[in-house]
Amino acid sequence: MHNNIDDLIDIEKKAIQSIDQATDTETLEQLSTRYLGRKGVLTAFLRNISALPEEDRPNAGKNANILKGKLEAAFKSAFSKVDRLNDADSSGIDVTLPGRSVKRGNNHPVTQVTDEICDIFLRLGFDIAEGPEVETDYYNFEALNFPKHHPARDMQDTFFVSENIVLRTHTSPSQPRVMEKTEPPIRIISPGKVFRCDSDVTHTPMFNQVEGLMVDENISFGDLKGILTTFIHQFFDKETSLRFRPSFFPFTEPSAEVDIRCVMCRGKGCRICSKTGWLEILGSGMVHPAVFENVDYDTDKFTGFAFGMGIERLAMLKYGIDDLRKFFENDVRFLGQF
Ligand code: DAH
Repeated sequence: MHNNIDDLIDIEKKAIQSIDQATDTETLEQLSTRYLGRKGVLTAFLRNISALPEEDRPNAGKNANILKGKLEAAFKSAFSKVDRLNDADSSGIDVTLPGRSVKRGNNHPVTQVTDEICDIFLRLGFDIAEGPEVETDYYNFEALNFPKHHPARDMQDTFFVSENIVLRTHTSPSQPRVMEKTEPPIRIISPGKVFRCDSDVTHTPMFNQVEGLMVDENISFGDLKGILTTFIHQFFDKETSLRFRPSFFPFTEPSAEVDIRCVMCRGKGCRICSKTGWLEILGSGMVHPAVFENVDYDTDKFTGFAFGMGIERLAMLKYGIDDLRKFFENDVRFLGQF
């Protein structure tokens, strides 16, 4: 017969163990009757309290009532757990399963690289100035010293909207647009989409460029070299060597293209750099006086430099991506890696 406090501990242990193991309502009901029913174990214990020595009675009664409360709570939660399991069985939905975590998205690698480029130039004191994607022939070509019928226009396979409206073929129109509205000193970069009627493994009809422009008194080719070298060392790494190679653009004189040591083979020569050990990454030069004249700048007073680069190309080199089209297929397995 249960009649002392050790017995209560024993009752609790056994009851909780069997409640935990019960998986259906019927078993729980039987257990409830066994422990809490009128002829149950706990009732019997209470009834036998009178048989205890007088000084033990108050404590035994108190503890028995505490245990009663505990078991009632344990039964309540066990009944509702079993109910939920039954619901899950019939509806096919298991509400006891933990929720699915929401997959976090990330910025497109082109956006990430654009932000990174902008951050570097913002730290160098440049501002951001964006221009329109649908552009006039004037800003896309004329103001940049590409006269009508000039052969240099052939370098850029233009989408014409009408005779004088084009989808901009580069971000360089930002240069005359900004200069028309602002007096030097100017330090701007201009990221954005550009369009060319071209599509193969290494060309897409839309891609992204960043344009840069710095104009003031006494700006020299040395400033151009300094800014671009700083940029490349920050964007790739400090060990990246680079070279300035003479080139031609109508809106800069002299013009230079910048190559970096191949990031894949470190200059040994591979497929990516066509065995030359060098990768071309941007065009640049000192702003042509004709461009300054178009925006009414005093060419005796001001000089400046400009540069332009393809963002996808920089992203490919930085992350070792070998196919330009991956940026535009929007396969989340690819995009999620960045
Ligand atoms: N706009 C040129 C292109 O798309 C790139 C470029 C070259 C921009 C030289 C410049 C520059 O500002 O000075 O091919």
